[in-house]
Amino acid sequence: MSQKKIFLVLIAISTVSLLLHHGGHLNLTLEAFWLGCPSSMVSSTQGSSGPSAKHTSVAFLKTHKTASSTVQNILFRFAERNNLTVALPITTCDHQFCYPRPFSAHFVHPHTTPPDIITNHLRFSRTELRRLMPNNTIYITILREPGAMFESLFTYFNQYCLSFKRVPNGSLETFLDHPWSYYRPEEKDSMYARNTLTFDLGGDKDRPSSEAPAYAKRFAAEMERVFSLVMIAEYFDESLVLLRRLLSWDLDDVLYVSLNMRTPDSKSSLSSENTAKIRAWNAIDSVVYDHFNASLWRQLRALGLACVEREVQLLRQSRDRLVRSCFGGHLPPLRSAAQITNKELRPWQPSAKVEIVGYDLPVNMTQKGHVPPRDECLKMIMPEVQYTRLLLRSESLRIRKRFPLRSSQQTLRTVGQVRAHKESPAPSLNPRPSETMARLRLSQ
Ligand SMILES: *[C@@H]1O[C@H](CO)[C@@H](O)[C@H](O)[C@H]1NC(C)=O
Ligand SMILES: *[C@@H]1O[C@H](CO)[C@@H](O)[C@H](O)[C@H]1NC(C)=O
Ligand SMILES: *[C@@H]1O[C@H](CO)[C@@H](O)[C@H](O)[C@H]1NC(C)=O
Ligand SMILES: *[C@@H]1O[C@H](CO)[C@@H](O)[C@H](O)[C@H]1NC(C)=O
Ligand SMILES: *[C@@H]1O[C@H](CO)[C@@H](O)[C@H](O)[C@H]1NC(C)=O
Ligand SMILES: *[C@@H]1O[C@H](CO)[C@@H](O)[C@H](O)[C@H]1NC(C)=O
Repeated sequence: MSQKKIFLVLIAISTVSLLLHHGGHLNLTLEAFWLGCPSSMVSSTQGSSGPSAKHTSVAFLKTHKTASSTVQNILFRFAERNNLTVALPITTCDHQFCYPRPFSAHFVHPHTTPPDIITNHLRFSRTELRRLMPNNTIYITILREPGAMFESLFTYFNQYCLSFKRVPNGSLETFLDHPWSYYRPEEKDSMYARNTLTFDLGGDKDRPSSEAPAYAKRFAAEMERVFSLVMIAEYFDESLVLLRRLLSWDLDDVLYVSLNMRTPDSKSSLSSENTAKIRAWNAIDSVVYDHFNASLWRQLRALGLACVEREVQLLRQSRDRLVRSCFGGHLPPLRSAAQITNKELRPWQPSAKVEIVGYDLPVNMTQKGHVPPRDECLKMIMPEVQYTRLLLRSESLRIRKRFPLRSSQQTLRTVGQVRAHKESPAPSLNPRPSETMARLRLSQ
């Protein structure tokens, strides 16, 4: 045999053995290849690292009413699986970083620094985040179509935000006819009533309408320089495909179930007339949204729409498999917060008038004699307030084990600083995380 032939035979043998060893994995990769998906591997198995290592420094700006809780949950679980540190708020800031105050590194609990990931609500400040986060941090956020988003804000914060509360009969139409009769720019919580996305991104929600269009364009361009990916809630799974590739994560790293939704009957569909009024009232948000929706679709087209579609299907199939293995068949039933017996799974509600739904574990899943769902399954349906608390406890335990002296001194100092502004109880670190998970399984 010539050398060339020997070489070819060797190649054939190694290809076959590769296929035998990595059948499933290669299968997906090959499929992706045939569909013209460039580079990044479509791998659905954990641990099989692709060509580049997973990126672990992420700042996700969590915007309001945009499916951002679902992204946060993905990031929380990724952090736990990979022993990463998530920056979490000091207790006096609640589960948000003292939103709506502009973010400051002082709002970060000392047990959660130096962080790899930050994802709880905050008002964006580039400089402060840069001070806190590693240099190679990738910035990500998510936007939602302004009409649907405003309708959601109006319902969710109806009793919470005064600009909405003073509207007779809680009517969105009435508000939209004369917004200035109800809206006070300087009032507490006014950021939920106008250009909320712009405000969350650190911008000026009340730029006068004559300047608004030019301002919005400049602002969008500036955001484009900061954020490597702006996800769009209307194209959530497609956005996840881009996210996964940007961070070199596996498909399994971005599986999710939707969190923090309303019951279907508390949603109302908008007329095109009302959508137009909402867009006019939230003019800056609308320009920013259109800018980033266009940019998302440019990126999806660059990747190849067939490839994106295929990966979205793979994502949904893997998610269904996970849900089956977690909850034996389908997701636990959706119930309104008030009906959820298990308080670790009960989502926060802005008022009794809004029906936020969460997942309740069926009785037969928590009774004795049944194998309870695994931690990773429970965490997938855990609302953000409870998950934040749980993470703070486990990160505190971890750091106390490592630096018993340092951490307690730092805590005292930070709590002292905050107390100077605001009276409030010291952070409580009990009970331990494992106890919380046990309570979650047993409380019925
Ligand atoms: C390869 O992909 C096909 C089509 O998606 C699937 O039916 C088959 O089970 C896969 N094979 C392996 C070994 O995963
Ligand atoms: C995370 O930490 C645990 C306990 O220290 C260890 O067993 C595990 O291998 C670590 N996982 C990773 C992905 O580093
Ligand atoms: C980040 O970059 C700055 C300036 O380039 C450098 O001084 C600093 O040490 C870097 N920090 C880290 C954590 O690498
Ligand atoms: C509020 O609702 C009541 C009863 O449905 C109605 O009589 C009244 O006119 C409404 N007020 C406004 C300002 O729409
Ligand atoms: C987003 O952009 C795409 C592509 O240009 C367009 O087809 C779609 O209607 C836009 N979506 C919304 C909600 O504006
Ligand atoms: C729990 O009960 C429901 C309805 O009775 C059933 O569909 C489901 O399979 C049961 N789950 C388990 C884990 O036994």
